[in-house]
Amino acid sequence: MPADIDLTDPDAFANGPPHDIWDHLRDADPLHWHEPTAFTPDGEGFWCLTRYADVEWAARQPALFSSSTGGDRSGGGTLIEDLPTGFAAGVLLNMTDDPRHHHLRRVVSPSVAPRRLRSIESALAERCDALLDAAVAAGRCDVLTDIAAELPLQAIASLLGVPQDDRHFLLDWADATLDYDDRNPGETTARVADASAEMSSYCRRVIDDRRACPADDLMSAAVAADLPEAAEPGGPLSDLELEMLFHLLVAAGSETTRNSITAGLLALVDQPDDWAALRRDPNLVPGAIEETLRWASSTIYNRRTATAEIELHGRTIRAGDKVVLWWQAANFDPRAFDTPERFDIRRSPNPHLAFGAGSHLCLGANLARLEIRLVLDGLLARVERIELDGPAERTRSNKHAGFRHAPVTLHPVPSAG
Ligand code: HEM
Repeated sequence: MPADIDLTDPDAFANGPPHDIWDHLRDADPLHWHEPTAFTPDGEGFWCLTRYADVEWAARQPALFSSSTGGDRSGGGTLIEDLPTGFAAGVLLNMTDDPRHHHLRRVVSPSVAPRRLRSIESALAERCDALLDAAVAAGRCDVLTDIAAELPLQAIASLLGVPQDDRHFLLDWADATLDYDDRNPGETTARVADASAEMSSYCRRVIDDRRACPADDLMSAAVAADLPEAAEPGGPLSDLELEMLFHLLVAAGSETTRNSITAGLLALVDQPDDWAALRRDPNLVPGAIEETLRWASSTIYNRRTATAEIELHGRTIRAGDKVVLWWQAANFDPRAFDTPERFDIRRSPNPHLAFGAGSHLCLGANLARLEIRLVLDGLLARVERIELDGPAERTRSNKHAGFRHAPVTLHPVPSAG
């Protein structure tokens, strides 16, 4: 097994989590040195953390495991391949370290705080109802494209304050840049380049609009921010920071949640008794949502860079080395979860790391939970039984565990039919 391990090959994830590799690494090689491969364009290897305790520990040590850079490395960031410092690393909210990270996060977190989410919940619920009514009336749908992709996109469009009519443009951009269907990690294509250029000019228009006409939305808050000196540097966010923030929120807000919703519903298709139990007892829903998040582990990994020498499991990580935190492997670690290979809506406790941990804990966690709940509640109320209507198709990526299609038949409850 060790010689065969290639966690950079998107095909290793094409049929779902590579559980045989995770089991092997957690048991036999918990600080695995991954050699460079055909899919590591900078020709560098990296360390892999796969045990729950190690992944969580590293995520909670941001001074030791930087999201920006470390050692004498010129690039960094949270992807396996290095991104240039000053363009992505050190600029994107999730690729900055404290103190700047702390101050940037304070600018945007009120826009996704529980109070703010309560204010958009009823509008989102209405949108969700419309999507579900249409799907149930048709008797079948593609869970991914008809429901799971739509709702998060509508939510992120309203948080960012962009017109709902533009949301498909945002989705096309996110699909082009995050999907490895027609390319490999580190490679670009004309489609990716075109989508990025269009998105950048779209972002700049949004930023200009908000400067001219501030509104009650996340981008207006970011445009108006005046950071204290402690943010190093103080003052307004740069145009590049604003643009990258917009990109990050569209990508993080749309792709991950749709994949979790789809993975959870597909698991429930396989476990009709649990669907029936959820219909009978709404108290089971919060547990089903957490299990959906763990099960989907839709963000497979994030990378860090060691800032100092670190001794772990008898080996030495040097300053500047890349260290990958495999959230997905941690979420299936039997040291942390009983029978992790089982989708268990009654799992309790369920301290999954689907949203990461520590200071970079997912900013959209509550929004994602709300979206999953709206879809689940809405379907449970309308649908007695869900069945597959063809094979579900997964995306090809070692970063985002996702789906391209998930066709299902919906059997409505008699009163909702
Ligand atoms: C099920 C859905 C989601 C999953 C599995 C997920 C996963 C994650 C993970 C693992 C991280 C930590 C990254 C790291 O430590 O390097 C993260 C951060 C982040 N997520 Fe999510 N996410 C989801 C939904 C969302 C949504 C809906 C939004 C939109 C508001 C969002 C915005 C962000 C942002 C802005 C960060 C960076 C936070 C920071 O660095 O302080 N995510 N997410």
